[in-house]
Amino acid sequence: MLIARRRGWEIPESRVTSESAMLNRRGLLAGAGALTIGGGFAAHAESNPKFVAGRDMTEEKYATTYNNYYEFNDSKNVAKQAQALPQRPWTIELKGLLKTPRTIDLDDLLKQVQTEERIYRHRCVETWAMTVPWTGFSLAQLLKIAEPLASAKYVVFETASDKKNMPGIASPFYPWPYIEGLAMDEAANDLAFMVTGLYGKPVPPQNGGPLRIALPWKYGFKSAKSIVKITFAEKKPMTFWEGIQPSEYGFWANVNPAVSHARWSQARERLLGSNEMVPTQIYNGYGEFVAGLYEGRKSEKLFM
Ligand code: MTE
Repeated sequence: MLIARRRGWEIPESRVTSESAMLNRRGLLAGAGALTIGGGFAAHAESNPKFVAGRDMTEEKYATTYNNYYEFNDSKNVAKQAQALPQRPWTIELKGLLKTPRTIDLDDLLKQVQTEERIYRHRCVETWAMTVPWTGFSLAQLLKIAEPLASAKYVVFETASDKKNMPGIASPFYPWPYIEGLAMDEAANDLAFMVTGLYGKPVPPQNGGPLRIALPWKYGFKSAKSIVKITFAEKKPMTFWEGIQPSEYGFWANVNPAVSHARWSQARERLLGSNEMVPTQIYNGYGEFVAGLYEGRKSEKLFM
């Protein structure tokens, strides 16, 4: 994303959707409610009607080929390279302020949670947006399993840093590993969703397989991909992008069309596929679920 040397939000002309693709997209939307999930990663996941997309679903071919994943490269074109990241076995280390620090296997974890499908809007800080069907389970369920101590105030996500398969890790420009975090009450919010599937299939590596998070009210960089470690901490962590450019990327990063990025407006967003520009909504339209989290935090930089 986001460093002055590249205009990463621009996409080539070849990606502009044709009329027939647009019609297909509409067809896809009509069938969205009926999507069912197969395979061991999330069998029997039903679409949760509580979360209404309110716009057409992005075609799979756009959502899975236009990606930010800097551990591979900074071009958006990472899908091919990302196939090298092994998706199993996959373990998640739970550490810090919790009852029993331990490492859990992803498949064992999946046996302990209820999975469902949620169609969420995703708004990147660079101003592109998509609407996709994720499969997974609420982060709240994982918190119950992890049993954090009362002294834990933040949840910190660390993502895969696999030198062998991720060529971007060799870049000294970035402070690897990718770190993201949430305050405990944000993490417990129902919208915070651990993702294992996309379009009814295992979430592909370029989208953060085999385990990522989706936080639809925040700019996309908060949604860490390929999570390998979850730490419960007393102190707010220094996150990856904040560490690189604190004047442009903060900890809270809630979507707000009225608060511009240091170098561009956040008033509108470009829908992947159609390239249609539409107005951006505060909290990306999820204010009814999350606005209350920030009532007592008005003095913080909530929107960057
Ligand atoms: N997670 C890791 N580990 N590395 C990244 O580069 N990019 C972030 C986020 N999570 C990123 C990441 C950004 S900027 C965005 S917009 C989303 O992933 C993109 O997710 P998508 O490729 O599934 O659309």
